[in-house]
Amino acid sequence: MGKPEDDLDDILGAHWNFHILGAAVRLGVADALAEGPRAAADLAAEIGASDVRAVSAFLNNAASMGLVRRVEADRFAETPMLALLRRDGGAYRNIVLMLTSPGLCRPAEMLHSVVLRGRSHTEDALGKGLWSYYEENPEDAASFADFMSELSDMVAGSVLSRYAFHEHRKVVDVGGSNGTFLSRILSEYPGITGVLLDLPHAVDRARRIMAERGLSSRVEFVGGSFFEKVPEGGDVYVLKSILSDWDDESCVRILSRCREAAPPGTPVIVIDWLYREDSAPIFDAIHLRQLARVDGKVRTLSEYESIFEAAGLAVGRVDSPTAGDAVAEWAPATVFETTRR
Ligand SMILES: C[S@@+](CC[C@H](N)C(=O)[O-])C[C@H]1O[C@@H](n2cnc3c(N)ncnc32)[C@H](O)[C@@H]1O
Repeated sequence: MGKPEDDLDDILGAHWNFHILGAAVRLGVADALAEGPRAAADLAAEIGASDVRAVSAFLNNAASMGLVRRVEADRFAETPMLALLRRDGGAYRNIVLMLTSPGLCRPAEMLHSVVLRGRSHTEDALGKGLWSYYEENPEDAASFADFMSELSDMVAGSVLSRYAFHEHRKVVDVGGSNGTFLSRILSEYPGITGVLLDLPHAVDRARRIMAERGLSSRVEFVGGSFFEKVPEGGDVYVLKSILSDWDDESCVRILSRCREAAPPGTPVIVIDWLYREDSAPIFDAIHLRQLARVDGKVRTLSEYESIFEAAGLAVGRVDSPTAGDAVAEWAPATVFETTRR
């Protein structure tokens, strides 16, 4: 442990580093330096910045946190950390874009009030809820959806090994975003077709992405709200990373729409976080973020049981990844099998 003043200085400095990361991605610095070291003035010209002094100060800030390397006065090179932010496959690009977007940053400015009220401040901070914000800010919406796709890809193998989708013919993915999880099911089981429900702007993006994946002919796209209606005709309904975005009352409304669409005996599968007594501290961090951003939460089993029951669904098997599963400990990968009572 260092001196408390040093620890606090580190934390305060990290706040600025976070914004340097966001700016590095948005300015395309990672992409420009991928081609070789650059003088600040050259880089300024390449990224269309008029103030070379500002670019130089920015690069020196980035150098002090190890994001770029100063090779000589005012000449900078890539580092392995910066390479992770490149447009062509940088593994951290989407998460940096997502976390540094105003939609997720501004609500956090009122965290003290979130803790006091036990409610999100997103509506006050953005003038609207996060999903409406995304509807009006397509670039931020795309980085969020791309990050969710990465998360879906990370958990899909583990979930598919623990739930028997092959027993079904038509999967309805409720709030399916880019369709990444649905794509993994369809690719694994060629006999299955899918229905993807999400808000209209998200479905427009999913249509393009599923066409690129060559899966459009097996998917019906439905733009609408899961508070209004969930498509009928599925023989399994999936809610992946949906319930942790909403308060209990909203979850009961979403689950009730699923129950109304699903014939008796049809499974409604929830894939999400589960909070246990022995959960790692990161689950508290995730809980607080969900609360601050969207009035969501990371639920305990009894909290899940009460929303399922209120929506007329009975919980059967609850299956979390085991230590042998190749999925991060914090990943939202617990499978709750429920059916209409
Ligand atoms: C956290 S993301 C999860 C996406 C996807 N299921 C996954 O796991 O990658 C939540 C999704 O819910 C969608 N959503 C939010 N409000 C909705 C509504 N009222 N009706 C339908 N979808 C909605 C969002 O557009 C977003 O795609």
